[in-house]
This record gives sequence, structure tokens and C-alpha cells, in this order.
Amino acid sequence: MTWARAILLTMTFSTIATALQASVTKAPFGKTQDGTPVEIYTITSGKAEARIMTYGARVVSLKVPDRDGKVGDVVLGYNSVAEYQADPSTYFGSIVGRYGNRLAKGTFAIDGKEYHVPVNNNGQSLHGGTLGFDKLVWTGKEIPDGVEMTLVSKDGDMGYPGTMTTHAKYTLHGATLRIDYTLSTDKTTVANITNHSYFNLSGDGSGSILDEIITIPASRYTPVTPVLIPTGIEPVAGTPFDFTKPTVIGKRIDEANEQLKIAGGYDHNWVLNGQMGVLHEAAKVEDPKSGRVLTVTTTEPGVQFYTGNFLDGTFKGKTGAVYAKHAGLCLETQHFPDSPNHPSFPSTLLKPGQPRHSTTIFTFTTEAKK
Ligand code: BGC
Repeated sequence: MTWARAILLTMTFSTIATALQASVTKAPFGKTQDGTPVEIYTITSGKAEARIMTYGARVVSLKVPDRDGKVGDVVLGYNSVAEYQADPSTYFGSIVGRYGNRLAKGTFAIDGKEYHVPVNNNGQSLHGGTLGFDKLVWTGKEIPDGVEMTLVSKDGDMGYPGTMTTHAKYTLHGATLRIDYTLSTDKTTVANITNHSYFNLSGDGSGSILDEIITIPASRYTPVTPVLIPTGIEPVAGTPFDFTKPTVIGKRIDEANEQLKIAGGYDHNWVLNGQMGVLHEAAKVEDPKSGRVLTVTTTEPGVQFYTGNFLDGTFKGKTGAVYAKHAGLCLETQHFPDSPNHPSFPSTLLKPGQPRHSTTIFTFTTEAKK
């Protein structure tokens, strides 16, 4: 091969690589009530588009093709920061923390010292308390194929010890949205971070997710008390919580099952069969209507599958449609709820000098009509 040909080939490959890289743009997205400017990043891969804003590091929209190549937005959300701020309880698209999901009575102990964090949900602490990470403005930075969101939560923030730094890198490749988290602290604390997007594979505002089909590779789950605090770990076999085979979400949701009654549907943590720290499947959702398929893989040990049971028609979303019960579903990859009060659960302690990394990947594909 001549030098000229080699140079030409190298140039061709780098042109292709550039073409495959997602483009990232940043724009103002209004201000919070206290006047803090919010920015929105648009990541376009050629196949899909993700918009992520600095308020709560939230995924505002995620556009992916259906089986006919028609692009549609598959996450719930609003058109303005004011609407997000007017809704304190759905956590649409946000990153929740410092402790995502529940801590019983907002109480935990580290090295024998008891801590109390704000209770905001039936006497329990949910998603970090009254002013969790979802309600704070993060700092965005453009990175190749995406955006890195950073939040520094000061020592004592919401009652948690230690200044904790969270980096969440969102990147888009084709129709795959990846989130890489890095958590670090200067004093031992507890942490559980996840993204709280609500998916509707038929499209945002298109109605209920009950006809979608889900598979969760988990033989066990964590049943809960009436205030949704885990009681331990139980097998799913023989219960409506067995999703080891593809099952229509609505098929068993109204069965006379105490756990379903307590939560008004599914709102539980599944103990994934895969190994913590290594990428494994958390869930697969298939939508017979649009042909869209979402596969979630994660390094986390659990996933909270929540069927939007508490959406009650109070809020109207981006399309103007009202969000009624089951308008979206969440797949919150996570450590288990209330882990600090369950010594047998994987530890959620975050120690100085020992940053915690985790990754969750949302891959969208399509399938033909069956
Ligand atoms: C919880 C639900 C809660 C929802 C908030 C989920 O992570 O498990 O109980 O209602 O977040 O919208």
C-alpha cells in the first residue's frame, strides 16, 4: 500500500468515526423559582435524540424509532422548569439521591451514630428527602457523545454526613443511552443513586403501559410493609412478581395479592440474578403496538419496577395529555431500598477514598409484529 493510499484510508476511517459521533448542543432552559439558570443539552446520534437538563439532571425527552422508523418520545416529562418544580412527587426523568428510594423513618446509623433525614412519604424518607438531588441544579459539561452532570452535596445536606460528589455521564450511541455514575465522599455516608425516568414505549402521553410486556431476570424480590419498606428477600416463584418469562404487565396486576394491594400495582425491588459490579440484564420491555423494545442492563444489584401507580391525573405532560395511573413505568436500577437498616443487603456505605462506580444502559431496538 502506498503512503498516499494509507493516509487516504485513515482519513476515511476518521471521517466515519466523526459521523458516528453524537452531536451535543447546549441551550438555556429557563430558570428555577429562585432565579438559578437551567440549561438543557441535546444529544443527537443520528438514530436517536436525548435532551437532558441541569435541574435534577433530568432526561426531559428521549426520541427513538419505532418498527417503521418513526421517531417518538418515550419518556414522560414537562415543557418547562416551572412545571417540574410544581410537581414535587413524580421525580420525572431525574437522578434521585442521596438515598434513592426509602429509608425507614428517615433513620440509619453509621459506626453506631444515628442519623435522621427528612421524612416526606408516609413517615419514611423517599428519594433523599424534601430537597433531594432531583430538585437541585447540577453543573453540566459537554463530553464526547453526551453530557456530564455533576452535583456536590455538602456535609449535612438533608442530614446526611460528608460532602458527597456525584458525576453522572449521559452518552448516546445509536439508540442506546448510557449513564455512568461515580460517587465519592469525604466522610462515610450512605448513597443510592438512580435515574427515575418513566418510560412509555408507545410514546409519551399515549395512555397506559399495561399492555407492554416485561421480563425481569430475577428469582427474588423484596416484599414490603404497608409503608413500602422491605421486610426481607423472598422468591418470586408462584407469585405475580415472577417476570422471569415475558409477561404482559397488566395480566396479574389486579390479582388479590397483598403486595400488589399495598403498592397499588408494582412498586418493588427485584433482586437481579446477575452479579453486582458486572453488567447484566435488569429488564426487557416490549411494546407490541410500536414494536419498540427497551433492554436495561446495569451493574447494580436491584431494580425498582414501578408501574406509575401514584400518577393520578393531576399533571399534564409535554404533549398536553394528562398523566393518569400507569401512564409510564420506571426501571430504577439501584441498591435495595432501606439497605442501611438491613445488614444482609449489599452495603450502601460510601467511604472516603473509595469512590463507587456504576453503569446503567438503556438500549432501544425494534421487533416485527408477532
Ligand atoms: C417509588 C414509588 C414512588 C415513586 C415516586 C418510586 O421510586 O418506589 O413508591 O411513588 O418513586 O414517584
